[in-house]
Amino acid sequence: MSSTLERLKGSLLGSTANGENAPVLRKIRTKPEFHDIAKFPEHKEFEQTAWFYKQQKYEWNLFREHMGVSGARVDIDGRNFINFSSYNYLDLAGDQRVLDAAKTAIDDHGVSTGSGRMITGEIPIHQEFERELCDVFGTEDAVVSVGGYSTNAFTIGYIARKQDLIIYDELIHNSALIGSKISGARRLTFPHNDIDALDDLLKEHRAHYERVLVLVEGVYSMDGDIPDIPRIVEVAKSHKALIMVDEAHSMGVIGPRGLGVLDHFPELDAKDIDLLFGSMSKSFATCGGYVAGGKPVVAILKHYAPGVLLYGASPSPANTAAGLESLRIMRREPERAQGVQSNAAYFIKRANAAGFDTGLSAGSGVVPIMIGSSEQALWLSVKLFEKNICTYPMMFPIVPRDQARLRFFISCAHDEQQIDHTIDTLVELRKDMPRDRGLF
Ligand SMILES: Cc1ncc(COP(=O)(O)O)c(C=O)c1O
Repeated sequence: MSSTLERLKGSLLGSTANGENAPVLRKIRTKPEFHDIAKFPEHKEFEQTAWFYKQQKYEWNLFREHMGVSGARVDIDGRNFINFSSYNYLDLAGDQRVLDAAKTAIDDHGVSTGSGRMITGEIPIHQEFERELCDVFGTEDAVVSVGGYSTNAFTIGYIARKQDLIIYDELIHNSALIGSKISGARRLTFPHNDIDALDDLLKEHRAHYERVLVLVEGVYSMDGDIPDIPRIVEVAKSHKALIMVDEAHSMGVIGPRGLGVLDHFPELDAKDIDLLFGSMSKSFATCGGYVAGGKPVVAILKHYAPGVLLYGASPSPANTAAGLESLRIMRREPERAQGVQSNAAYFIKRANAAGFDTGLSAGSGVVPIMIGSSEQALWLSVKLFEKNICTYPMMFPIVPRDQARLRFFISCAHDEQQIDHTIDTLVELRKDMPRDRGLF
């Protein structure tokens, strides 16, 4: 039986827990933390965080409901915030044209397609969206799916198998990590953007595996830097490795027209990247994911990959229409991407002049202010929130323990006054920032 059929059969029949995944048969005492969820260590950690906020008299700033659209400003509890926590980079989440497209799709098809794409869940705008993506990127084909995270994870999880190797940048997104785990492939990492190290890993390991998949991002989501994709492609190709680029934060933002890595690096051809993944929750102002590439890769993803289309619902009419309309606006209005780039450059200039370290960020819509201590990053975010500026701390385990930061998403709708006010507020807060007391 071909490997695809074997894998399809395995997934149709369900888990193989009685075979290769059988648990180690060692008797253990059934403690309360194995059956009482309140006693799970994860729940204890959650309680400790809530306790810490209370003990510090911090306003709880998680899961806060906002009213209206989350853009460069946002309304929470009747307060109006300058908002740096939304990745609505191109300010399209409330754009009338996008809203109208979504409403028309609801009028035409309702709020759900009722099933997966293969079995009557297909509506014309799914394929229209895919054709538009191909037209933008120059790829042969594309597949549009229901979630960004799931598309990334399940694509990787399907393309690589036990006998394969996945090599990724140490800062790769969690969806790629989970996808790599699902695949069962051997996993190796290289230090951030160290392409020589990637080359060395490929030299050492390539010959021992069947497929080798290299995973990088177009813009790193915690740091805002753009890796040297042409060199990564060159190295990967020289070892006959496949390359997948996560464009969640690069598509819509980088390049003179904002059309992602292929726009930013004109020397690259669509054929150079085997799998071009993107999320629709950022510049596309909706929800979903896509993979663009050659006809063969899209054919197998569409027909066989669980979680991409198979075994799942199709993207809703409203989400699909919103994403397609956003893409069309993106193409017609490159000034939106240019606005993100110039606002980010201004933010970095002001932050650096005030003595803040913005790490590796350059040319994208993600700007960190490196703090180091998680406790201080949390304190700053809570104090900014009190002053109606919304940004969140990125702390361990999302980033290394000593590299906590505040992360600012920059939109084309921010203005210089908002940025000036934010940096000035940070300068004032810094004067009173408590030292790290080792509380976590
Ligand atoms: C780099 C990267 N990849 C993938 C995803 C997942 O996309 P989504 O949020 O659309 O599910 C994210 C989400 O923030 C991301 O930052």
